Amino acid sequence: MLAEVTALLACRPGGIYVDGTVGGGGHAAAILEASAPEGRLIGLDRDPEAIGRAGETLKPFGERFELHQENFDRIAEVLAERGIPAVDGIVLDLGVSLDQLESSGRGFSFRREEPLDMRMDPRSQQTAADLLARLSEEELARLFREFGEERHARRIAHAVVRARARRPLETTTDLVQLVYAAIPGAGRSRLHPATRVFMALRIAVNRELERLASFLDRLPGVLRPGGRVCILSFHSLEDRIVKHRLRDLSGRRETPGPLRLLTRRVLRPRPEEIAANPLARSARLRAAERI
Ligand SMILES: C[S@@+](CC[C@H](N)C(=O)[O-])C[C@H]1O[C@@H](n2cnc3c(N)ncnc32)[C@H](O)[C@@H]1O
Repeated sequence: MLAEVTALLACRPGGIYVDGTVGGGGHAAAILEASAPEGRLIGLDRDPEAIGRAGETLKPFGERFELHQENFDRIAEVLAERGIPAVDGIVLDLGVSLDQLESSGRGFSFRREEPLDMRMDPRSQQTAADLLARLSEEELARLFREFGEERHARRIAHAVVRARARRPLETTTDLVQLVYAAIPGAGRSRLHPATRVFMALRIAVNRELERLASFLDRLPGVLRPGGRVCILSFHSLEDRIVKHRLRDLSGRRETPGPLRLLTRRVLRPRPEEIAANPLARSARLRAAERI
């Protein structure tokens, strides 16, 4: 939804923009093009490999960008450290990148045999294997149910506790095999049976919903009047947090808040875009403007 993001951000030549999830640098490059010749971009990502890749992609833009390995909920501090009071636009493209899924070696994908790590930031403490080893059966069931919307959360949690009593769950294959054995008729569903469990663990390991909520709390303070934010989410829980928080921040007619919604209804990708990129299937885009 690159075209929609750059259109909603209404990039202008002298603007300063933040890409809070710079990833491979696709959105960042589009923003730098749309804000040429002198727009500036600060790119953040908590994955050091993403920072390396984005640096390569953005090389042609010379001095117009800077990249930092940071969590996007530290946006206010990052800007303050650079003496920037507020910016013209911010984009977040949440979730996991194709590179993380396919070539990070950190166990994000159930299609590869890798250690059950799932940390986007390798400096953070807790891996997916740690959570599977440490949480109680109740806590695991809640995690799979709440973050994965997994119908068989209890069965899977029970299977984890039984399996780890014999030996620790260490690889993606250990977990995939466990899920297959725990869910009745697992091989018959259209979605891979481990999809929801993997997603739930990734969200928990990276505290994704907490980070998003804390970013949204800081948002009005880091946008200048007329500045805009675009948030792409890929999970219904994420989208719910974005929707409610943006709505709260935009207030009511009698008591307007600091933001104005630019998307009264959520935007979804066009069918051609989903055909070209199946990962876009669940994308939802919301945007707002600082008044
Ligand atoms: C879907 S990818 C972004 C792709 C990017 N828009 C592009 O065009 O290549 C999401 C990225 O956000 C990063 N990320 C997720 N949560 C983050 C957070 N709280 N703070 C900083 N980066 C985060 C991930 O490490 C990943 O690289």
